[in-house]
Amino acid sequence: MSVTLKPNLIDVDEQQLIFHLHNEQISYILGVETGNVLAHLYFGPRVRGYHGERRYPRIDRGFSGNLPDTLDRTYSKDDLPQEYGGNNTGDYRQPAAIIKAANGARTVDFRYQDCRLEAGKPNLTGLPQTYVEDEDEAQTLIVTLVDDVIDITLELAYTIYRDRPVITRSARFINQSEEMVDLEKAASMQLDLPTQPLDAISLPGSYARERQLTRQRLHRGVTQFESRRGGSSHHMNPFVALAEPQTTEFSGNVMGALLIYSGNHQFSLERDPIGQTRLTVGINEYNFDWQLTAGQSFQTPEVALVYSTDGLNGMSQAYHQLLRERVARGQYKNELRPVLINNWEATYFDFDADKIQSILDAASPLGIEMFVLDDGWFGHRNDDNSSLGDWSVNRKKLPAGLADISKRTHDKGMRFGLWFEPENVSADSTMFKEHPDWVLGVPNRGRTLSRNEYVLDFSQPAVVDNLFEQMTAVLDEVPIDYIKWDMNRNLTEVYSPHSVSDQEGETSHRFILGVYDLMERLTKRYPQILFEGCSGGGGRFDAGLMYYMPQSWPSDNNDPVERLRIQYGTSLVYPISAITAHVGTSPDELLGRSTTMAMRSAVAMSGTLGYELDAAKLSAADREAVQQQVAFYKQHRRLIQYGTFYRLESPFESNTVAWMFVSPDQKEALLYTFVILGAVQPEPHITKLAGLNPDQNYVEEATTEVYGGDELMQLGLYTTPVQTSDFMAQIRYFKVQD
Ligand code: DGJ
Repeated sequence: MSVTLKPNLIDVDEQQLIFHLHNEQISYILGVETGNVLAHLYFGPRVRGYHGERRYPRIDRGFSGNLPDTLDRTYSKDDLPQEYGGNNTGDYRQPAAIIKAANGARTVDFRYQDCRLEAGKPNLTGLPQTYVEDEDEAQTLIVTLVDDVIDITLELAYTIYRDRPVITRSARFINQSEEMVDLEKAASMQLDLPTQPLDAISLPGSYARERQLTRQRLHRGVTQFESRRGGSSHHMNPFVALAEPQTTEFSGNVMGALLIYSGNHQFSLERDPIGQTRLTVGINEYNFDWQLTAGQSFQTPEVALVYSTDGLNGMSQAYHQLLRERVARGQYKNELRPVLINNWEATYFDFDADKIQSILDAASPLGIEMFVLDDGWFGHRNDDNSSLGDWSVNRKKLPAGLADISKRTHDKGMRFGLWFEPENVSADSTMFKEHPDWVLGVPNRGRTLSRNEYVLDFSQPAVVDNLFEQMTAVLDEVPIDYIKWDMNRNLTEVYSPHSVSDQEGETSHRFILGVYDLMERLTKRYPQILFEGCSGGGGRFDAGLMYYMPQSWPSDNNDPVERLRIQYGTSLVYPISAITAHVGTSPDELLGRSTTMAMRSAVAMSGTLGYELDAAKLSAADREAVQQQVAFYKQHRRLIQYGTFYRLESPFESNTVAWMFVSPDQKEALLYTFVILGAVQPEPHITKLAGLNPDQNYVEEATTEVYGGDELMQLGLYTTPVQTSDFMAQIRYFKVQD
């Protein structure tokens, strides 16, 4: 019998104390420097081995101190590239951790102690994370550092996957002392990159304008991307990429850092006086103070690092696969996602069973597969001023209850979905009247209202249990196939009336842990339910949520021009199967802009398709168009949702936008082109395709023309027909010639 041993992924040189994590694509190297300081040596394309070329050059740098009790003036922690810098011991750059000891000192100095290797990847209890399905697909290096004055041990975990250009990192603090310490900052990772020009690519935004891809050259000083809002936020996604300046969508080196977390986050990039760049990623230190009592440990969230030598598309594709295959869980992670219709923009709060029936009657012949009943079905909610927290059906509106709506939907051969907003409560609700102390708030201070709601204190287990009971009461009684989980405000007065006052710095993290706990319990109990994340549109579109919910609503903005940018930016990290996209009305409900059905549908058919309109009010022409869209989408849905996605031309740079989907075997492709504004004399525009097999010929379905894959990628295609009007969209399907 012959056994094939899979090659080792981590080399440990026990003499030199060099650790080399490698696979076919990447290498990550770290080592122990003078004084047992853990140094960063390399992250990039795979190298076979390491021969000491990154040993840090010694030079006396004035005003940078040296290690205590040594006479070597040429070695300083202030410039040494490190893996996890301390505080107040001569490294003046951003610290990775700040720990206040019992004596009030905030001095942190971690030194190497030892290391161990583990097969696969250890579980981070209570947190979302990447995982392995088979122990052999990854290996983990755990490096133990210690600050022996405050007696805290730090375990840095590094996992490398065998077949992905991915390293994951996280940190765990263990208090070995007899006293309590305050963790005031506990980054998940830090990494010091050598001197070189770098661009930071981030995803800032706002409500209804999420994830606007932004690229900026890093200059001296600190550039910070963060959320202090209690959620990952519309305003700054928990992701940053560092690209060499010449990197494009298709070529060049880029490294991504994605925090798998849905709460306050902080990405800081410090370009030091000699041009080195320190990247620090983790929970935001803002209002953070975790009391680590004797013997206790604190586990940080995880960061997924990706390295691509194939430009931004290469990085995005690695993230898409990772998030789809090793973050998303449950039966839907590889399943085709249903085409849905949602009643929100069709009815808002003004619906009854007849109205819903009319939508069902109109939607089902169009091929739409699921109806989602949005906000307003519970308590006495007729607008957004009441009833959050009272999760039982509004019998005035729906006298026969939810079971009746579910049955009506199922009778039409469609699945039934329902909206919840579990984390908030209305002042006008039974829950708030009975449990005013279940709400975040600071004694003797007013509570900030937002959309007329308060935030429930999910750091209290009793609150989480109550929501679990209320939701399971509905879900056990009514056949429900899908849940849209909304969250319509940010956190304020982040104080838990039930914790002792000096634990306040823990509340925002404990809040998110409570949210994860509820999500874990519900998704485990109802594996047949498809969950979709939402937060006033895309306020919590992050990898943390993807661990529980394989898809998410990226924005309330359905205007297709705005959506081009939102979906383009979102695709930088998140897979297409996770990005839901609905055809709205024209004029658009939020923006009021009138656009073509062709553009609205092509943008929506670039994600997980749905409709956000009253199907009963569609014109005959639009009905026919929708029927065709749904049929076309179903035919190509696997290619769209699970194919390889290429961004070709950016809506942030040009009036013509293009992207495409290629099947994993390169036998099929869909090319989408959009021309936003028309022109009297349009310039001829050529789009070059990507990801095809250059040696194969492809037939374009609509024209039956045959082109070589090499031609499509090198010569490209004109955008035709040449149109002078606004909002043109075209989808072209290509298949390998038999
Ligand atoms: C915000 C969501 O993004 C919308 O789709 C809708 O569900 C409303 N909330 C309902 O209040």
